[in-house]
Amino acid sequence: MEIRPYQAADFDGLDALWREAFPNDPPRNRAAQSVPAKLALNDNLLFVAVEDDQVLGSIMAGYDGHRGWLYSVAVREDAKRRGIGTALVQKAEAALRALGCCKINLQVRSTNAAVIDFYKGLGFSVEDHVSMGRLL
Ligand SMILES: CC(C)(COP(=O)(O)OP(=O)(O)OC[C@H]1O[C@@H](n2cnc3c(N)ncnc32)[C@H](O)[C@@H]1OP(=O)(O)O)[C@@H](O)C(=O)NCCC(=O)NCCS
Repeated sequence: MEIRPYQAADFDGLDALWREAFPNDPPRNRAAQSVPAKLALNDNLLFVAVEDDQVLGSIMAGYDGHRGWLYSVAVREDAKRRGIGTALVQKAEAALRALGCCKINLQVRSTNAAVIDFYKGLGFSVEDHVSMGRLL
């Protein structure tokens, strides 16, 4: 298993992974929309975990000069609990640290509270914020 920056040939595997991991996500989060938008930034912060040319996992990081963010942390159902999620987060953390990022944030949907333990195991803690958003 290798974790490396996303390449064009990974598209179908990534799209299938996100459909499996995030079945209720809106169209704006689908690979067809969000991958080209991410690649346009040219920041090399979209990573995939690959084994035998199969995409088993993904993570998208972002850095705006102030905070780092993690998105689309996903591991294929049949590859869970092998440490791939951990390795993906650590890869993204290293990339963000190399950019000078001093704090990473992420959001977990309240309906997905089970993954909080996964992030706690990686050193994240639940912070007392209310998350807000607005569609443009
Ligand atoms: C969350 C996710 C990325 C974890 O990937 P993974 O490769 O299975 O994680 P790891 O194997 O690195 O797990 C490391 C540790 O985290 C904890 N952990 C992982 N998944 C967990 C879960 N669903 N519930 C509770 N603890 C969990 C365990 O302590 C695990 O160690 P163990 O297997 O020795 O018990 C994966 O379950 C996933 O893709 N979920 C669906 C998508 C999703 O919800 N993403 C997060 C959006 S915020």
